[in-house]
Amino acid sequence: GGRTLAATPPMGFNNWNAFGCDVNEALIKETADIFVSSGLKDAGYRYVNIDDCWSMRERGADGRLVPDPVKFPNGIKGVADYVHSKGLKLGIYGDAGTKTCAGYPGSLGVEDLDAQTWADWGVDYLKYDNCHNQSDGSREDYVRRYTAMRDAIDKTGRPIVYSICEWGTSQPWLWAEGVGHLWRTTGDISDNWSSLRSIIRQNAPLAQYAGRGHWNDPDMLEIGNGEMTDTEYHTHMSMWAMMAAPLIIGTDLRAASPETMAILGDQDIIAIDQDPLGVQGSVVSDTGGLMVLDKPLANGDRAIALYNSTDSPATVTVAASATGLKPARAYRLKNVWTGDTLQVRSTISAGVPAHGTVVYRVRPVDDPRTVPPAVAVGAS
Ligand code: GLA
Repeated sequence: GGRTLAATPPMGFNNWNAFGCDVNEALIKETADIFVSSGLKDAGYRYVNIDDCWSMRERGADGRLVPDPVKFPNGIKGVADYVHSKGLKLGIYGDAGTKTCAGYPGSLGVEDLDAQTWADWGVDYLKYDNCHNQSDGSREDYVRRYTAMRDAIDKTGRPIVYSICEWGTSQPWLWAEGVGHLWRTTGDISDNWSSLRSIIRQNAPLAQYAGRGHWNDPDMLEIGNGEMTDTEYHTHMSMWAMMAAPLIIGTDLRAASPETMAILGDQDIIAIDQDPLGVQGSVVSDTGGLMVLDKPLANGDRAIALYNSTDSPATVTVAASATGLKPARAYRLKNVWTGDTLQVRSTISAGVPAHGTVVYRVRPVDDPRTVPPAVAVGAS
């Protein structure tokens, strides 16, 4: 069951990047409230996810996981009921080992009981980690442990998005389609430029493994957490959308700036991430730190990203003929972040600031749907 879930990359929130183990009912409920009041729910964000440290250190007498009564006085069921009443979904965290990464009880060998417990509480999304895994490191062992939880979820009959969190260790893109709906491809993200750049470099070449219902996961968003520039946070959102990555907000929405909300809620960039064709953008060129990605979209447009990972401004250029665009006498480009439109003959190009990304939505001018551009640039 559950194979039609996550047809497009999951969108939501997870407390880990901003709060670590400091999770509780009030935070989850207030985040759900903000999803509704801020328009993030209307923009497509659905899952409000609890990360590590939500349980007691010991299981109950019946062997079941027990929510920490100080953090979750109404249990996980109580917070799930609240989140559901807002038309949203609740996520939880577990581990395919003897303990979670922070040392709480893991689910290895007790998959059926824990999956049923989460289903009984109304959980809709499971992030399943890989610490304390007792593994011999073989791919077979990874497949076995992660498949055991998939089967346990299936037995509950509840649709639960299954997020495989094993940091790319066993190359899950080679085996996890049909096991989970998404799989981490890298180690943990952190809120700085070198982490962001490194994760993009690792995840971008994996386009062929993603598709509807099975996504590469370059980890949760750091947008708004304060240690990167506005340009870098725009690159973060742009490249996650181009890579059809899950959009899991990782900042404190109760204190988010208008700039942060504008990036996270941008309809045009979200439409690229959530495009129903479900294709991860592929790398067209990658030289000297300048990368071009090309993502086909369901209406026949293509999203083209010009990404400058270097420390200086640069012009990033690609021939239309090097992308999946059909031959045409000219192309109409819409800059997704600024809304500016322009027309070019055969070359797509932009001046891109250091660490910046320009994203164009592109279609042939002769396409009957094409509207005349506000600014015509015909020279290139
Ligand atoms: C691992 C995961 C993180 C987070 C922590 C929690 O490091 O990769 O995303 O869930 O565990 O302990």
